[in-house]
Amino acid sequence: MLAKKLELYMAKPGDLTIKEYQPVQEIGDNEVKLEVIYGGICGSDLSVYKGKLPYAQFPCRPGHEILGTVIAAGKNAPYKVGTKVASFPNTYCGECEFCRQGKTNICKNKKSFGVTINGLFAQEIVIDAEFVVPVPAGLPDERAVLAEPFAVIVHALKKVSVSPGMSAAVVGCGTEGSLAAALLLHRGADLTVMDVNPVKMQIAQSLGKNVKTLHPNDVKDEMFDVVVEAAGTKASVEQAFQLVKPGGTMIGVGITSENISYPAIRITRSEITIHGSIIYVKKDFEDAFALLSKPDFKVDPVISKIVPLAAYHQAFSDALSGNFVKVVLDFKQT
Ligand SMILES: NC(=O)c1ccc[n+]([C@@H]2O[C@H](COP(=O)([O-])OP(=O)(O)OC[C@H]3O[C@@H](n4cnc5c(N)ncnc54)[C@H](O)[C@@H]3O)[C@@H](O)[C@H]2O)c1
Ligand SMILES: [Zn+2]
Ligand SMILES: [Zn+2]
Repeated sequence: MLAKKLELYMAKPGDLTIKEYQPVQEIGDNEVKLEVIYGGICGSDLSVYKGKLPYAQFPCRPGHEILGTVIAAGKNAPYKVGTKVASFPNTYCGECEFCRQGKTNICKNKKSFGVTINGLFAQEIVIDAEFVVPVPAGLPDERAVLAEPFAVIVHALKKVSVSPGMSAAVVGCGTEGSLAAALLLHRGADLTVMDVNPVKMQIAQSLGKNVKTLHPNDVKDEMFDVVVEAAGTKASVEQAFQLVKPGGTMIGVGITSENISYPAIRITRSEITIHGSIIYVKKDFEDAFALLSKPDFKVDPVISKIVPLAAYHQAFSDALSGNFVKVVLDFKQT
């Protein structure tokens, strides 16, 4: 009998507890068993907690952004014991028309960890090896844990070519917006960051030199070649569109189910391009790791806190406060 482990458990929205469970002993041929190191709390975990996702299943174990070490591997799993890996946030079927085109991010049958299927916030988990990505040697855990949310941005910014000196704005400086700011700076963009919360703007500003801040209420006639929308509200999406220069591009990363109105005449007359971008494919995850492995790629301010698993309540309430960027749970410290 293996020693009991701890996992988070959400009986219903707002009802989050920690409990002991018996880890499984048998694993499938295609699976790996991981000892979890870190778990980043994501906006979607908070949406599940707040009961904002009608399709979320309860009870559930929350979480998807985990970093762990392989402690057992099925015979077909391509990872050896001891390999560090990070998890995908969802599964995909590999067979639908989109998966067959390599677009596993829009798989018709995808299931989201911690939302529609049990999540990954546990000290030990078993997962299909298809849904983990190996961490490059030497990459510190505190950077590796950002690869999952960063892959979202790597995917999104492949939709536009950013050359040095181009003007760019990021609307919303949470984890995704801050990581977008980091990558835009890395590509040499002349960057402006926007957020209704000045604390968040300052954190994003600290990612590089000469980053300008602009409060959404102070916008006059500023316009940008590239605008990344990463706040996900009706107001922010509509404002982001207004900020796009003629011939420019808006990339929608933020998610809102509200209807948005864009003046169609501007899209046509000013040749505005709007790209939607949802999660990523495995290559984006690998590219995220490659960027995080560059010592000069600054992302440290994106992690606000790393807290022991036992302080999960405080961690969730900090994350919910809106005043922090990424809050990470440490599964090895209880
Ligand atoms: N497309 C994808 O694959 C993908 C992946 C992850 C997250 N998301 C979505 O991206 C968005 C950002 O995710 P996150 O985890 O960074 O969330 P977050 O809550 O940490 O960040 C959102 C930020 O937007 C700011 N904000 C709110 N209203 C604003 C406004 N009107 N103008 C400017 N800023 C405003 C908030 O203060 C906050 O700092 C969310 O909508 C999330 O659902 C999308
Ligand atoms: Zn996430
Ligand atoms: Zn599919």
